[in-house]
Amino acid sequence: MSLPVAVLGLGVHVPPRIITNEYFAQMLDTSDEWIHSRTGIRERRFVEENVCTSDIAALAAQQALQRAGLEAGEIELIIVATATPDHLFPSTACSVQEKIQAHHAAAFDVSAGCSGFLYALSVAVQFVANGSYRKVLVVGAETLSKFIDMEDRATCVLLGDGAGAMIIGGDGERNDFLSFVLEADGRGRQALYLPAGGSVLPASAETVQGRKHFVQMNGREVYKWAVEKITQVSRKALDQESLSLEDIDYFVPHQANLRIIEGVAERLHLPPEKILLSLPRYGNTSAASIPLTLEEALTAGRIQPGDLLLMAAFGAGFTWAAGLLRWSWSGCDGQPTL
Ligand code: UT7
Repeated sequence: MSLPVAVLGLGVHVPPRIITNEYFAQMLDTSDEWIHSRTGIRERRFVEENVCTSDIAALAAQQALQRAGLEAGEIELIIVATATPDHLFPSTACSVQEKIQAHHAAAFDVSAGCSGFLYALSVAVQFVANGSYRKVLVVGAETLSKFIDMEDRATCVLLGDGAGAMIIGGDGERNDFLSFVLEADGRGRQALYLPAGGSVLPASAETVQGRKHFVQMNGREVYKWAVEKITQVSRKALDQESLSLEDIDYFVPHQANLRIIEGVAERLHLPPEKILLSLPRYGNTSAASIPLTLEEALTAGRIQPGDLLLMAAFGAGFTWAAGLLRWSWSGCDGQPTL
């Protein structure tokens, strides 16, 4: 059985606190010029100390519900993609379920780093397509600011906080999702990871002292893999549908680094006007970056019903993924929310 699956709503939340590149330049041996020229990032958002991942996930979810004209009680499944969960367990999805009062929903998290939103969305689409659930909430949400080493200039300038939510479900004839491709290679798992706090290295005074509860990254390695894999997986998703790059209206990449995106665009021969970017304003928000980018383009009137979107991401694991989406949802009220 394969039922039609449609986007019913989209919502986002970014914390109001803006952190400019100058903020880092005042504390570290770095500059706005270095950060902007190497990454494309101008600023990012950080949550306040008392705000956690499920808080911003719930705010994004509430906006998506309101725009979809749905009550929380109608949601049957919640999937949260995050690398920065509220706790090791229970899942952040359970906290979101409680915060939005979606008491009838099953809930679980997906851990796939920056590819998390596409991994979670593809799982959700399968559940709707096979008739298991009719209304599914997918959220990509991160509070990366809580896990970055503010003494490590090579990582702390890259990451930001934010959340994006998409509700999908059966809606008569609308069938928005084409193909998804998910891939991974665990040999890259230590090129981008958080060393301590899990079963390999439980929290101790030594792990705290050794700054092992912060994100560690081999930037060059990630960069190299990201360009290659995003290019390959994008081609694969198109091939599965016998589509070509000329059929794409917009490329919606995970927003990690402008040079990675430009490297992929060059290999795919994608002109700049087809590439959606939110990176300069939010930095790398990991699992939240694709829905945030969609939101900005929608409220700016760039994405129109009928447009074919190619979404692609690469992240910790290593994981990478691509998905094709024929946009048909018009429930956005046109008011810029970001
Ligand atoms: O979703 C996946 C998440 N991860 C990523 O997207 C990261 C992917 N990688 C990257 O974006 C890039 O590798 C970085 C932006 C992290 C680094 O850029 P790079 O051009 O690869 O620089 P590099 O690592 O080769 O470092 C060049 C120099 C080094 O100094 P030395 O050893 O040549 O003296 C670094 O210490 O740049 C230095 N550096 C900085 N200098 C000023 C690293 N970070 C900074 C900084 N400000 N913030």
